[in-house]
Amino acid sequence: MADLIVDLGDRSYEIFIDSNILGQAGDLVKQVTSAEKVLLVSNPLVYSIYGYMCISALQNCGFEVSLALMPDGEKYKNIDEAMKIVDQAVKSGIERSSLCIALGGGVVGDLAGFAASIYQRGIDFIQIPTTLLAQVDSSVGGKVAINHHSGKNLLGSFHQPRLVIIDTDTLRTLNNREFTSGLGEVVKYGIVYDHEFFSYLEAHAEELIELEEISLQKTIYRSCQIKSEIVAQDEKEEGLRAILNLGHTFGHAVEKLGDYKLFRHGEAVAMGITAACYLSHRIGLMTTEEMKRVEKLFMKLQLKSQFPSFAPEDVISAMQADKKIKNRKINFVLPRGIGDYVITDDITHKQIENAILAVQK
Ligand SMILES: NC(=O)c1ccc[n+]([C@@H]2O[C@H](COP(=O)([O-])OP(=O)(O)OC[C@H]3O[C@@H](n4cnc5c(N)ncnc54)[C@H](O)[C@@H]3O)[C@@H](O)[C@H]2O)c1
Ligand SMILES: [Zn+2]
Repeated sequence: MADLIVDLGDRSYEIFIDSNILGQAGDLVKQVTSAEKVLLVSNPLVYSIYGYMCISALQNCGFEVSLALMPDGEKYKNIDEAMKIVDQAVKSGIERSSLCIALGGGVVGDLAGFAASIYQRGIDFIQIPTTLLAQVDSSVGGKVAINHHSGKNLLGSFHQPRLVIIDTDTLRTLNNREFTSGLGEVVKYGIVYDHEFFSYLEAHAEELIELEEISLQKTIYRSCQIKSEIVAQDEKEEGLRAILNLGHTFGHAVEKLGDYKLFRHGEAVAMGITAACYLSHRIGLMTTEEMKRVEKLFMKLQLKSQFPSFAPEDVISAMQADKKIKNRKINFVLPRGIGDYVITDDITHKQIENAILAVQK
């Protein structure tokens, strides 16, 4: 079993990564808590596949488990569902010293984490992510949030989990599109932080999309390790952590213009990375060959990265409405070659427009 530590002083926590470890969840949880009561948050789909195994594992170690199910879907990551979780917590006698566990993808993780962060001013929280996106990204780092009708993730907090349990077997029931979409975030880590990891992905792309176990575990491990290193240096995103937004400025605009239905988050990120690479190329930070390598890797991973045919001015307005805008200037994380980055707000609208038009072809 591979394990990693997110080093945050007395709030440090471990990430366990292995196949078939859901059955050991009780023992792993026991190591980090003296809680007796657990509120398990999931959705009906994930719960129907993994709920029984998870609850049995917890009960076998003496935990008293109650359940809160949210409906499946991003649109339910909202205040009403958060309040339903709180209602269930009250009804089940969840106390300040109890524990909340999220079993599911990023939506369940974000909502359960948000509820845990506000319930009695914050109770302990554990992530058991079951999508690739959640395993390589959203379950690590402590960002928890819900959507507001005027914007995605507008209400939230930093509430670090006490433990992350990643069972790679759960990915075997995930549909293809969800799996490849998660690879968008994986490629991001290679481009912005680790050239060697990028080369590893190039060499193992076929194995990855066939869910070959060793490549899968190495990929998840390195992704979580990179995220942990960054979060340990900049927990609250005051600097370095912003590099994890590579492709997200364009990507969030694409998601919004697709009404959060047309594209999965990771797909939009891949499209955004393609546009960011083109911008980098135009300002001399990336060679044609490097740009082609990124494009080829997305193809090998079967991740559609061609920018959709939205009007550039609509993309730019959607970007300006993003919550990451500072003083009305659009901030970009741009690749510097492969494995490094720059952060700049010195990009003109004309340059953005040209980049969009170029990557739509
Ligand atoms: N907190 C963060 O740092 C962070 C980072 C990135 C993304 N996010 C958030 O994550 C969310 C997206 O997460 P996601 O991509 O995991 O989507 P998701 O949680 O909606 O899961 C996708 C689908 O897969 C299903 N599913 C989950 N696990 C399964 C399994 N093992 N087998 C079969 N089906 C399974 C879910 O029920 C759902 O229908 C967004 O709300 C985004 O804002 C948060
Ligand atoms: Zn993302």
